[in-house]
Amino acid sequence: MCGIMGYVGARDALPVVIEGLRRLEYRGYDSSGVAVWNGREFHWEKCPGKLEVLEDRLKRRPLPGSLGVGHTRWATHGGVTEINAHPHFSCDRRITLVHNGIIENYAELRRSLRRHRFTSDTDTEVIVHLVEEHYRGDPLGAVRAAARRLHGSFAIVVAFADHPDLLVGARRNAPLVVGLDHADTFIASDIAALLPHTRKVAPLQDGQLVVARRTGNGHADVRGVDLSGRPAPLHPITVPWALEEADKHGYPHFYLKEIFEQGQSLEAELQGRLDMKRGGVVFDGLSSDVKRVRRVAITACGSAWHAGLVAKYAIEALARLPVQLELASEMRYGDTPFDRGTLLLAISQSGETADTLEAVRLARRNGARTLAITNMKGSSISREAEDVLYMRAGLEIGVAASKTYTSQVMCGLLWAIQLGRWRRTLSADHARALLREARRVPDLVRRVLDRAGAVRRVAKRLADCKDYMYIGRRFNLATAFEGALKMKELSYLHAEGYGAGEMKHGPLAIVDDRLTTVAVVPRDGVYPKMVSNIQQIRSRGGRIVAVATEGDGNARGVADEVLAVPRVDELFSPLVTVVPLQLLAYHTAVRLKRDVDKPRNLAKSVTVE
Ligand code: AGP
Repeated sequence: MCGIMGYVGARDALPVVIEGLRRLEYRGYDSSGVAVWNGREFHWEKCPGKLEVLEDRLKRRPLPGSLGVGHTRWATHGGVTEINAHPHFSCDRRITLVHNGIIENYAELRRSLRRHRFTSDTDTEVIVHLVEEHYRGDPLGAVRAAARRLHGSFAIVVAFADHPDLLVGARRNAPLVVGLDHADTFIASDIAALLPHTRKVAPLQDGQLVVARRTGNGHADVRGVDLSGRPAPLHPITVPWALEEADKHGYPHFYLKEIFEQGQSLEAELQGRLDMKRGGVVFDGLSSDVKRVRRVAITACGSAWHAGLVAKYAIEALARLPVQLELASEMRYGDTPFDRGTLLLAISQSGETADTLEAVRLARRNGARTLAITNMKGSSISREAEDVLYMRAGLEIGVAASKTYTSQVMCGLLWAIQLGRWRRTLSADHARALLREARRVPDLVRRVLDRAGAVRRVAKRLADCKDYMYIGRRFNLATAFEGALKMKELSYLHAEGYGAGEMKHGPLAIVDDRLTTVAVVPRDGVYPKMVSNIQQIRSRGGRIVAVATEGDGNARGVADEVLAVPRVDELFSPLVTVVPLQLLAYHTAVRLKRDVDKPRNLAKSVTVE
């Protein structure tokens, strides 16, 4: 969702802030703005549309100064207009603020601030007036007092004309990270914005504030406090990602580059984790408690939920435990019975998804053990869960998940294998055989990628298709859901994921020659069932694209188009079958001239409900 970038230090703030916003673009936005302190007052520029529009204006009117804040807005309250774009200002224009999140009690607060002059329709503007209301010369005190009155989610950065060497940041239920580099301090929505400047970052904790001051002795003074004003020290970490990860490296889109990185990212997931001698998986730093479970509940959203579906089947098969899989947006308002014998497995690449975070909190409050699979060190979910299994997908910029999805699937599978070993439901020999198969996966994925040209040609032949049904069963039901989600997100075409066995319970009614069915039909335990499901569709005139095992003549016989994938154990098959579907969605989107890396209406990290 919205992106925030603040800078205080020795450099010219504007280029730093603009570069930060550029690297936050992938989060999704519809307008942008900046404010810089010029030594006398804040001057600013903001406008609807892409960052280029803002940059164009700034070329004509550069804003010099070494304290600045910037914002990319994803509209929630009030239309996409210049007035509603951030930064927002106090009545006297001496306090300026940028915000990500939603203030739930903004209407009530706005009424209580009647004597203030409001200029926008946003919920955000109440925050800056609230800070002004509480300001008596102490910036941190004023932000703290204002933050305590806010309901909902916020990550904010505030600058004060009376203190032009200082920025205050605060967060609740929305991410904010501080970048540290000698005299310079950066405060941003996520690490991607900080990578050009520093790899030393401190993610703020929920309910934490930070005050960053330029001291003049070559070092910044950066302190954390909690909402009651007690010291709450920052915990900086050094992120392992290099700046190059945030570049396209010659690919036309980040999404395509990230698809092609999957051989490497899956290799990274396996590195140092496979214990072939004992037949098991090594996870660093997990508490021993996490293995003593009687049932598992898995929660996640979107693609992460699809990865959860693969994990569910794998845990049931290998660890023989009952597994409940639930969308986090449902679980957080539901009545899932939790106890200490239940392990809640929360899957989230960003570690900031609001629904998943709340589901973890609910499970913890009700006594469950909690384990997160996430790509982000220091994220809210990683801090909230008792145990964390970190994915090693690297930075993913494309809004649509690709390599983080396959990493989530791989982590879930490795977890299921080890759970089976702990519970002695999986023999060492069987585990070793599975781990050997896991080792083949990165190369098998590369083999699928070598045939990207064939997928592009299929996408071209499907140019007239406007409606897609994706079907699969068992492990590849998740692939059907994920393939359909990719097609929707990237191409904006109608695409539905469905259990192949469910077609006869209703959806067969929509089959005719205008519907294309993408059937995920590798040689696995449900292969014959899938073939007869496909035949039912074919006999009703539907067009079939089959994702099938190399050399499968049967599939060729029933399908109009075949996307071939190498043979692999069915447990790992979702990791290879999803790749041609990522490419199919990509080439369809490119043909339709969609904004592949930043699909309309979507955000990378969904930190609001
Ligand atoms: C996937 O392409 C989507 N961008 C989306 O469904 C995503 O997987 C979902 O929002 C969950 O995100 P998370 O993994 O960061 O929690």
